[in-house]
Parts: sequence; C-alpha cells; structure tokens
Amino acid sequence: MTDAALLLTNQIELLHSIAIEHLNAATTLENIEAVRVEALGRKGKLAEISKQFGKLGAEERASIGKLLNAAKQELESKIEGRAAALQARVLDARLDSEWVDLTAPAPGVRPGSLHPVTKVQQELEDVFVSMGFAVLDGPEVESEYYNFDALNIPADHPARDMQDTFWVKDGRLLRTHTSPVQVRGLETLGPPLKMIAPGRVFRNEEVDASHEHTFYQLEGMMVDHDVSVAHLIYFMKTLLSAIFHREVTVRLRPGFFPFVEPGFELDIQCLICGGAGCAVCKQSGWVELLPCGLVHPAVLRAGGADPEEWSGFAFGLGLTRLAMMRYGIDDIRLFTGGDLRFLRQF
Ligand code: FA5
Repeated sequence: MTDAALLLTNQIELLHSIAIEHLNAATTLENIEAVRVEALGRKGKLAEISKQFGKLGAEERASIGKLLNAAKQELESKIEGRAAALQARVLDARLDSEWVDLTAPAPGVRPGSLHPVTKVQQELEDVFVSMGFAVLDGPEVESEYYNFDALNIPADHPARDMQDTFWVKDGRLLRTHTSPVQVRGLETLGPPLKMIAPGRVFRNEEVDASHEHTFYQLEGMMVDHDVSVAHLIYFMKTLLSAIFHREVTVRLRPGFFPFVEPGFELDIQCLICGGAGCAVCKQSGWVELLPCGLVHPAVLRAGGADPEEWSGFAFGLGLTRLAMMRYGIDDIRLFTGGDLRFLRQF
C-alpha cells in the first residue's frame, strides 16, 4: 500500500470512530444532526477525504473508495437508528405527560366570584336603595341629544370632538358619561325623584395607570323642593363612609360642568400612596373621584321639571377609580386584563 493510501485509510478509520463517539454522546436530535453534518455533510469530513483520491492509483482508489463507502453507510444507518430511538423516547415522555385518566372523578365546578367593580357597585346600590333611591339603567349607545344637548353642553364643547368620543355611523355615540340618565330618569319618573344610574361609559382616551377608554361611573340625582348644597354634601359623605369604612381625607374644589350650577369636584386623598404621590394620582396626592353640583335649570327643563318649582343635586362618581381606591389597585388596566390570578383575589 502506498503512503497516501495508508494515510487515507487511517483518516477514514479515525473519522468513523470519532463520529461514533460523538453519536453515542448525543442527547438531542440537534446533537445527532450536528454529527451527521460534520461527518457526512457536503462539506463534511468524508467529502474532504474523498477529494484526496486524486493522489491514488486506480486500484487503490477502488479499494479505499469501498472502505469509504462502507464507513459512510454504517454511519448513516447508526445515525438514523439513534435519531429514531431518541424520537421514540421523546414521544413516550410526551404521551406520559399528557396522559389523562378519563375514569377519574371530575374536579367539580370551580366557584366564580364577582368582579371588584361589580362588588363596589352592588354595595353602593344597597346604600342608596336603603335611602330611597331608584336604580336606573340607560343605553350605552346614546343619542347626541341625551349625551350632550339635553345636558346643556354646547355644540362647540371639546367633549363633542371626534378625538374624545366614539361615534357610531348613524350619528349616535357611545355615551361618554352616565349623566344622560339624569334627563331620561326625569322624563320617565318625573319629580320628586331620587335615582342612581351605574353603568359603562366610553372615551377615546389614552390609556394609562388611571385612565381607561372603557370604565364605569355611577350617576346620582335627587330632585325635590328646596334641594341645596347641604343635601349634596350629606349624601356624598354617606356614600364615602359606606364604601371606605374609615376616615378618608377629601377636598371640595369648584368644578365646571355645563349641567350643574354651582359645580364641584370632590377629590379624595390617594389611598394607594397615602398622598405622597404615585402613578395613579399623577404624583399629586389627590384622586378626582366625584364631580357634583346642583342640577342646572336647563337640565331640569329638558327633563320636563319646572326649575321655579324643583331643584336638585347630581353627582357622577368614577366607579372604577373608586374600586381602585377601595382595594388598593395601582393600575386600572388590571380590571380588564383578564388575568385570573388578579380576579380570583376578590
Ligand atoms: C363627568 O363625566 C360628569 N358627567 C360627572 C358629573 C355628573 C358632574 C353629575 C356633575 C354632575 P368627569 O369627566 O370628571 O365628569 O368624569 C367623572 C369621573 O369619572 C372622574 O372623576 C373619574 O373618577 C372618572 N373618570 C374620568 N375619566 C376616566 C377614565 N378615562 N378612566 C377611568 N375613570 C375616569
């Protein structure tokens, strides 16, 4: 045998034994594929060896070629066998892990629970019903008339912008607040009237820790003879102590809403941070919760009540924000995120 043939024979044997060693150590299909590419691939070790066949005579070329083919075939079948065995093992493990005992007794129905906003809403309904208030409902797809005009909101008010309100093609809109139920309630039941109207409202708003595009409000209104700010404050205090069962610090500031006169904003000190400032209160220490005021004469008139005879107060509570304060939830998006780990806590 010539030196060149001897060298190639040694190389083939070495390559074969290294490949077998690597194959035995392979634990994944990727490992096996790497062994195949290294030994048998187009640019692999065997291909490299066969390039050197030019140095051999015809006879040696035939015998070394045979040797090379035998090594190749053996490696191929070992690789295939090993891959098949591994695949079978992976499948077995998967079948084991997915095995379900269909004869085992069913785990039973897991009890659900009310959404935290629903809980707060129901508590408030109980408080107001006990004080003689009716609970009313209004449509979520509302007319421009009830959402704006009947509430004395002028045509050029920014709330009417496309940017702030979701409009429906037929000219109606997704109500931006629960206040339309004030006029609907007056029209339907007439004064004297004590009502609340909880429900979902919609605004085309940028979402952050304290703002959602879809959230809940609870409207309240009392119309009777000689209703004053004193009545308003009494009911606001009753509402807050019923919900928080503890002292909360509040502040009343003047607030402008076209449908009340005078109008106020009742803020509570942020219960997430205790007033120090956080993402929920936008670092101010206060959370806007309860705008309110005395019902504007134009609204009474729109509802068919003579403002000379009747007066009233109204408020529009941010129900979702109230639930945040009540349960110490620091991001409004958790309410609608659908994360059961969050919801199961209530
Ligand atoms: C109103 O919607 C008036 N209709 C309230 C009102 C009723 C005033 C009756 C006077 C008389 P405002 O836009 O401020 O007001 O919203 C009321 C409350 O809803 C806010 O105080 C806040 O708690 C809550 N709120 C407002 N925007 C959002 C939002 N994007 N996400 C969550 N809560 C919000």
